[in-house]
Amino acid sequence: MSDQTFQIQDGRLSASLDMAIKCLKNDLLIGLPTETVYGLAALASRPKAIAKIFQVKARPTNHPLILHIAEYRQLEKWARNIPSYIEVLCNNFWPGPLTIVLQRTERVCDEITGARETVAIRVPNNKVALTLLRKLDDGLVAPSANRFGKVSPTSAKHVVDDLGDQVALVLDGGDCDIGVESTILYCTLSTPQILRSGAVTKDKIESVAKISVDLSDGESRAPGMLEKHYAPNCRVELFETTVDAKRRQAILFSENQKVQILDFFGDVVSYANQLYARLRQADSSGIDVVIAVMPINTGLGVAIRDRLTKASTATNR
Ligand code: TXA
Ligand code: MG
Repeated sequence: MSDQTFQIQDGRLSASLDMAIKCLKNDLLIGLPTETVYGLAALASRPKAIAKIFQVKARPTNHPLILHIAEYRQLEKWARNIPSYIEVLCNNFWPGPLTIVLQRTERVCDEITGARETVAIRVPNNKVALTLLRKLDDGLVAPSANRFGKVSPTSAKHVVDDLGDQVALVLDGGDCDIGVESTILYCTLSTPQILRSGAVTKDKIESVAKISVDLSDGESRAPGMLEKHYAPNCRVELFETTVDAKRRQAILFSENQKVQILDFFGDVVSYANQLYARLRQADSSGIDVVIAVMPINTGLGVAIRDRLTKASTATNR
């Protein structure tokens, strides 16, 4: 592990956070653990530092960032015209993997939203991230801490592997609990719409808030939600059953290809949790083809299928 990584044991948490705050106030970027994936974070009030995020990730500047805040009570500093159902949603899902898109207040700078009138906001459910956010009189903007289009990081080591000395330090909060990015819910229309699937599912939102929720109609309201994304260097092939995957494996073996099967036999929680680490491992061990058995298309399985489909599209060559 690199010198940049700060293991957070209880005794060191406060010293590490003080150092992180010093870096952030000097317009440096830090690696931030969350329950979904690691973020590449800057203070929301620092346009210069935010511009660096786009450079480091090689991300187009019109792909807006998610703003992380410490608690629901801070929401009105950053968002306005907040629909009444938001309170019940946030009371149930925050801190947690639900990002809501609302109209922004003046406090949100253009660099965060790509000059859009809306801003995406969430409260992450991770002890290190929340302790840091509570010490700040500010928010943290953080995209996933990987290069644009590549596999998201789910450990501090992944961040160091990808971004090296372009981050001042990485707060090490251990492996991410969930492993896939947050659900993004567009909330400025009368019926909210899921723009990106995650651990907070359509069914959960509908039953908690007693409202109906649309799935994205494919029209790009979440800029940056490309068809090709989350991609390792190796090829990813998708199969609906273990039997089909094994059949394909035999063919590829006979062609002398190095193959790895991803199959979690219905355990979607472990699938989400290990997905990105396994794709990264495939690259580092020189695998030619990952053969993924798709999970069932409900619950967390929807998000996993979405990420795998994008990974396979990107590597479909
Ligand atoms: O779980 C997560 O959400 C992680 C952790 C670090 O919080 N973050 C993350 O950020 O996945 P990123 O930048 O990789 O993805 C953010 C997505 C992008 O697809 C972007 O288009 C969408 O959020 N987004 C941000 N602001 C938006 C807005 N105003 N309207 C619509 N979509 C927005
Ligand atoms: Mg990302």
